[in-house]
Amino acid sequence: ADALKIGVAGLGTVGASLVRILQQRANALAVACGRSIQVTAVSARSRDKDRGISMDGIAWFDDPAEMARDADIDVFVELIGGAEGSADLSVRAALNRGLHVVTANKALLARCGVELAQMAEAKGVLLNYEAAVAGGIPVIKTLRESLTGNNFSRIYGIMNGTCNYILTRMEKESLTFEACLQEAQRLGYAEADPTFDIEGNDTAHKLSILTTLAFGSEIAADSIYLEGISNISIEDIHAARDLGYRIKLLGVAQRTESGIEQRVHPTMVPLDSVIAQVDGVTNAVALESDILGELLMVGPGAGGNATASAVLGDITDIAKSRPGAQKVPVLGRPAHLLEPYRQAA
Ligand code: HSE
Repeated sequence: ADALKIGVAGLGTVGASLVRILQQRANALAVACGRSIQVTAVSARSRDKDRGISMDGIAWFDDPAEMARDADIDVFVELIGGAEGSADLSVRAALNRGLHVVTANKALLARCGVELAQMAEAKGVLLNYEAAVAGGIPVIKTLRESLTGNNFSRIYGIMNGTCNYILTRMEKESLTFEACLQEAQRLGYAEADPTFDIEGNDTAHKLSILTTLAFGSEIAADSIYLEGISNISIEDIHAARDLGYRIKLLGVAQRTESGIEQRVHPTMVPLDSVIAQVDGVTNAVALESDILGELLMVGPGAGGNATASAVLGDITDIAKSRPGAQKVPVLGRPAHLLEPYRQAA
């Protein structure tokens, strides 16, 4: 089979990891997918930076939208981030051209994911976004594929690695909030604007995507009750521990009689619960459904390799898909069949 040609927009922590892995594992990936996967185009802000990747055979584009329109690629991988601007423009350009799209952009999907899903479905291309929620944990695939047929009652979890890293280090090493945040930024966990991490917006974006997949409703990130961790002090953390609890920033969505309730806030979880043991940058997502029962997935939630692993899985899914093969609806059900979001009173 012909090689699958990939264009990567954004060469930050995740993008650079991804291109390195695609280059280093080229042979093994070709065997696993039955065809080779080649990075043929990239786009990033600075061209000169040494990212430890070979640029042989790779076309450089300053403008990601231009790459989406003109590059010799089959798949457009968007790792730019941000709900608007070049991520939005380039993803639309790629879908309009009929390219498959892989994105890690939870802010973009939370804002206009249904519209993008409709574009992808109209063109018959795949829109994959495993890395957008809970980093390396395969929760999107689980909701879209493995648990089809289940009715969900509740989904909740730790979905922001930066916050969990900060809360863990504050408790275990008595470091200040600021010092922990700076370390999370240095390690490449935090968003470009870390306000989105610590004020809960990032968790809300991810939760709204999961809500849509689990409950089949429109995405409604703006309807989420939101409270972050910037007001949590070491004293709060110690007081919680003395009472037998640990403080975690949770995102929760549940079905109620009056609609779906979505909230993000610091939560006291019992010290002996599994979720209380989830430390550092690790994320956890619990899915409660009628046929399976409770499924808890725990794993790396942020950082270059963890996120690149999820992006890589999305790319190999496309490499393995055959023309005409039945496609999993982008949002778990076709975008035009989503129900209006009905918020609990
Ligand atoms: N800033 C995000 C986090 C990155 O800390 O979880 C992964 O989405």
